[in-house]
Amino acid sequence: MVELIKTGIPELDEILNGGIPKGNSVLLSGSCGTGKTILAEHFLFNGAKKYDETGIYISLSEPRDKIISNLEPFKFYDPKLVEDDKVKILDITQDARLINLEPLTVNGIINMISSIIRDSEAQRVCIDSLTAICNSLGTEKNIREFIFELGLQLGYLNCTTLFISEIPPMTFQYSVYGIEEFIADGVILLREHEDKGELIRTLQVVKMRGVHHSRNKQILQISEEGIILKPMFEL
Ligand SMILES: Nc1ncnc2c1ncn2[C@@H]1O[C@H](COP(=O)(O)OP(=O)(O)OP(=O)(O)O)[C@@H](O)[C@H]1O
Ligand SMILES: [Mg+2]
Repeated sequence: MVELIKTGIPELDEILNGGIPKGNSVLLSGSCGTGKTILAEHFLFNGAKKYDETGIYISLSEPRDKIISNLEPFKFYDPKLVEDDKVKILDITQDARLINLEPLTVNGIINMISSIIRDSEAQRVCIDSLTAICNSLGTEKNIREFIFELGLQLGYLNCTTLFISEIPPMTFQYSVYGIEEFIADGVILLREHEDKGELIRTLQVVKMRGVHHSRNKQILQISEEGIILKPMFEL
C-alpha cells in the first residue's frame, strides 16, 4: 500500500482520494497569479502544523523577505514554524552554493539541490520554479535528465515534491518545454477564465500516478484561510 501525504486542504485531499503518494514529484502548473505559490505554501505549513512533517520552500523567483511578508495575511502561516526550521524558506539565488556553481551543469544543480534538501531533513519540498531552472539548462536533453534525476533523488529521500511550472495564460500547456509533465508523477493544473469581466481561478488534477483521483474542475478561491476549492460542476 502506498502511503498518501495529505495536503491538509480538505477538498484537494478528497479529489486526490486521500492525498499525494509519498515520494511523488508533482508539477503544479499555472500562469501568473493563479495561486501556485500560495497553494505550495499552504501544503508546506499544513505539513508542519498538522502532520509534523518538515518542509522546505526553495525559491528562484522571489527574495526570502518578500516571501515571508506575503505570507503574513494567511492563517496557515506561523512564524514560529519558520523560526524552528520546521518550514525552511530559502532564496537559492542568494545561496553561495549556487553562486559558486560555475559552470552550471545538470549534475551540479541536482547535487546541490539534493544536498540542501537532505540537510534540511524535509519530507515536503517545493521548488518555485522548475521553469526558472529549466531556462538555465538550455537543451531539452538536459531538462529531461534534470527532472528525471532530481525526481529520482527526491524519491530516494522520500520527499513529496511540488515543482512549480510557469505557463502562459489561457493556454492548454502544462509546462513550457512540454516534457516536464511526462516525467513528473503528477500534474495539478491551475487555470483562470473570464466570466462577466471577472477572472475565475480553477484547479484540476490532470494526473497522479498511483491514485484513482477525480479529474473534475474545481473553483479555486484564495482567502486568508489559504486555498479553498469548490466543485465547478455538480455531477
Ligand atoms: N490575502 C489574500 N487574500 C486573497 N487573495 C490573495 C491574498 N494574497 C494574495 N492573493 C491573491 O493571490 C494572487 C497571488 O497568488 P500566488 O502568488 O500564489 O500566484 P502564483 O501563481 O504563484 O503567481 P506567479 O506566477 O506570479 O508567481 C494575487 O495576485 C492575489 O490575487
Ligand atoms: Mg508564485
